[in-house]
Amino acid sequence: MAQHDDGVATPGGDPVPEAQNTAAGSAIQKAVPYEVSPGTAVVRTDNIPNPGFPPHRERQTDLDPKKDKRAERQVTSLFYLSIVGSVFAVAAYIAFPIIPGDMGSVRLNTLLLGLGITLGLLGIGIGAVHWAKQLMRGDELVESRHGTRGSDTTRARAVEIFTLGNQESGFGRRSLIRNSLIGALVLTPIPAVALFRDLAPAEDPVPLLQHTMWKKGTRLTRDPSGTPIKAEDVTIGSAFHVIPEGLNDEEDRLEEKAKAAVLLMRLKPEDLNVSAGKETWNYDGIVAYSKICTHVGCPVALYEQQTHHLLCPCHQSQFDMKHEAKVIFGPAKRPLPQLPITVDSEGYLVARSDFHEPVGPSFWEREL
Ligand code: FES
Repeated sequence: MAQHDDGVATPGGDPVPEAQNTAAGSAIQKAVPYEVSPGTAVVRTDNIPNPGFPPHRERQTDLDPKKDKRAERQVTSLFYLSIVGSVFAVAAYIAFPIIPGDMGSVRLNTLLLGLGITLGLLGIGIGAVHWAKQLMRGDELVESRHGTRGSDTTRARAVEIFTLGNQESGFGRRSLIRNSLIGALVLTPIPAVALFRDLAPAEDPVPLLQHTMWKKGTRLTRDPSGTPIKAEDVTIGSAFHVIPEGLNDEEDRLEEKAKAAVLLMRLKPEDLNVSAGKETWNYDGIVAYSKICTHVGCPVALYEQQTHHLLCPCHQSQFDMKHEAKVIFGPAKRPLPQLPITVDSEGYLVARSDFHEPVGPSFWEREL
C-alpha cells in the first residue's frame, strides 16, 4: 500500500486528495477488489482472492418497520434487564450480608449475588447479539489507513524539534550535568540490590543443614512418642520412623525434626554393600538414613520390603537401601545421608555421631 501521511492509500498508490477523501464522508469505504501498489507491506500476487462476505440479505426488520420497532424494544428490554440485574446484585449484597459462622447466610448471599451478576451479564450479551443480528447492517466495510512512514517533511520537522530540545536543555553541551545524571540513574537501583540481598538467609545454609540434633550417644526413639528403640525390636523387613531422644522437649522441635528425622530398617548384613570407612555405621544390618529427600526435601516414607527400596512420594525418587541409599530412579541427585549408629550398654540404638554431610536438598552444597 502506498505510504503517505497526507492522504489515504489508493489502488494506484496515489494519495486521495483531501477534498475527495472528505467527500466520502470518512475513511471508511465500500470494499472493492483492487491491486495494491508495493510499500512497506508485502503484497502476494498468488493469494486466493478474498471472497468477502455474502451480500446483505434483507431481513424482516429491514422490510417491516413494525418488526424493526419490535426488535428495538426487545434489545432495549434486555439492556434494562441487565441494569436491573446489576442493581439487584448490589442490593442483595447489602441486604443479605454474610454472617460469620452462619453457612446459610453464605449460601443466600452467594446465590443472590450470582443471580444478579448473571442477569446483568446475560442481558448485555444477549441484547448485543440480538441488536447485531436483527438491526445492524451486514455490509463489508474496509477502513483504509495511512502509511506508517512519515513524509520527508514530517521527519525533517521531528529532527528539528529534537535538535531544538537538545539546544534548549543543553543536554549535549553541558557534559557535566549530563554525565552526573547518567551516574545518578545508574546508581539509583543500588539500594534495591542491597535490599534484595537481605532476603537471602542470614547464615550460611550449609553448616545449618550439616548439624542436626544427633550427636554421639543420642538414642534413636520412635516418632512421635519418643520411646527408645532396642536393636532386638527391629526385625528384618521392618522400618521405623525415628527422632532423636529429647526432641519433643525442644522449643523449636519442628525445625529440628525437619533436619533430624530418620528412617530405620534392618536388612540381612550380607545384603548390605558397605563402602570403605563406613563398616561400623550399621549395627548388625540395622541402618539409619535421613528421611529428608535430597531432591526438594519431602519426607521419604515408603519402604518396599522385598526390594529394599525407599520411595519419595513427591516426585518418585527411589533409593536403594542395599547400596547406601543410592539413587536408582527419579530427580534426586545424591544418596540419602546415613546416620552412623550402634547400641549402648542397655541395648538401645544410639547415634555414633551427627550426619557427615548436609541433609535435605542438594543445591546448597552442589560442589561438595
Ligand atoms: S522431593 Fe523427593 S523426589 Fe522430589
